[in-house]
Amino acid sequence: MNMDIVLGLQWGDEGKGKFIDLISEDYDIAARFNGGANAGHSIERNGKRITLKSLPSGIFMKDVQNVIGTGTVLDPVSFRKEILNLQLFDETVQPEKNLIISRKAHFVLPTHRLVDVFMEENPDYTTIGTTKNGIAQAYSNKILRQNLRVGDMELPDFKNRVEQILERDYRLLAGGNVVLPPLEEISSEFFEAVDFLKKFTRTETEIFLNTALSEGKRILAEGSQAAMLDIDHGTYPYVTSSSTTAAGASSGLGISPKKVGEIFGIAKAYCTRVGNGMFPTEVFGDLGEEIRHKGHEFGSNTGRPRRIGWLDLPALRYAIMINGVTQVILTKADILSGMESVAVCTHYELEDGTIERIAGTLPENARPVLKSMEGWEGDISSLENASDLPDELKEFLSFLNRELDVPITYLSIGPGRNQILKIKELELVK
Ligand code: IMO
Ligand code: MG
Repeated sequence: MNMDIVLGLQWGDEGKGKFIDLISEDYDIAARFNGGANAGHSIERNGKRITLKSLPSGIFMKDVQNVIGTGTVLDPVSFRKEILNLQLFDETVQPEKNLIISRKAHFVLPTHRLVDVFMEENPDYTTIGTTKNGIAQAYSNKILRQNLRVGDMELPDFKNRVEQILERDYRLLAGGNVVLPPLEEISSEFFEAVDFLKKFTRTETEIFLNTALSEGKRILAEGSQAAMLDIDHGTYPYVTSSSTTAAGASSGLGISPKKVGEIFGIAKAYCTRVGNGMFPTEVFGDLGEEIRHKGHEFGSNTGRPRRIGWLDLPALRYAIMINGVTQVILTKADILSGMESVAVCTHYELEDGTIERIAGTLPENARPVLKSMEGWEGDISSLENASDLPDELKEFLSFLNRELDVPITYLSIGPGRNQILKIKELELVK
């Protein structure tokens, strides 16, 4: 048996949660391998929406075992709030029974959040536009080998170790521009949350997952963030601090790349990004505003308005390449309905050539070349068959199929669980 992976191919918020929710009933295990509470995976249940942050999107399926894997960072305070909120949202969920946490996942400590805010607001540092969840601080302390891991909560001197770090960080932060809550306050909130964490199984998830594979169980790895926010391959420094790629899934879960099966890449029919950094196909003005409002493009985590841009094929080809994507799932096609024309960036033009595949860096004089395509009319959100899609949208999909090396296999046409169409190539031929 193999592990399949779901990944974002743009700058996050592609609709990963919805797709995972749809397919997770085919799996025995859903596992998060990177990131932490910076993610916001929206899921619809009984007409209501919830945004999951650290929890895998299989949490509603009682027969799916959910895993918070080794490559993630876990903030116990945020985790506790998320679980309590989840139980209010749906009282039938039983995360104590279907969630396990890696003992090797790193903690996000309360001062990591404060340092994140401090760095974002201090002109001596590059402002990234982070989600202020202390993600970079937890990962950087992990790399510095100064951090604590989930398994460390069992150590007899755990409390002392945490307090030592908090005091040290407070000394560093003193004199900065951050309002510091009393140390005892954040410290006791943290230890209460760590106590709460004791209700959940903490284990060597690598062994659990590899044993499950050898028993024929199916694993779905759930990516957070996306290819262009990857620490190595993304638009550095405006990226997150973890490996968001297929390789990150292998390393974050401790599963050999040999055991990876399908790699589902999720992309929106247009692009969005929150936070700073390059965005060559960005659309400003009324058009950007229209798509933002129609697509509810406001951060599910921070509420910030998302920047809007046209689909960027050079970046998408690059994301497909570095991840080895086997199928593309295109989302939010319904949001572009009713527009006279839609555009796609096919390549970048340079004085002495073109760029067909790129992300992360771009020569200064590179100019995105946009292809304008006829828009499609009508409400597609309740269609049940791809063959009924408007011809112009079929042409849009056929064009993307020709331009990308891998097929589009699903088209999401609305936020609801069932608003998704399976695409067969034949149906795209007019
Ligand atoms: P999901 O999983 C969109 C962005 C932030 C910022 C940069 C670094 O819902 O797709 P961080 O807090 O990680 O240090 O911020 O990354 N970012 C996301 N953007 N969706 C996300 O997650 C994101 N997680 C982080 O806006 O630009
Ligand atoms: Mg999100």
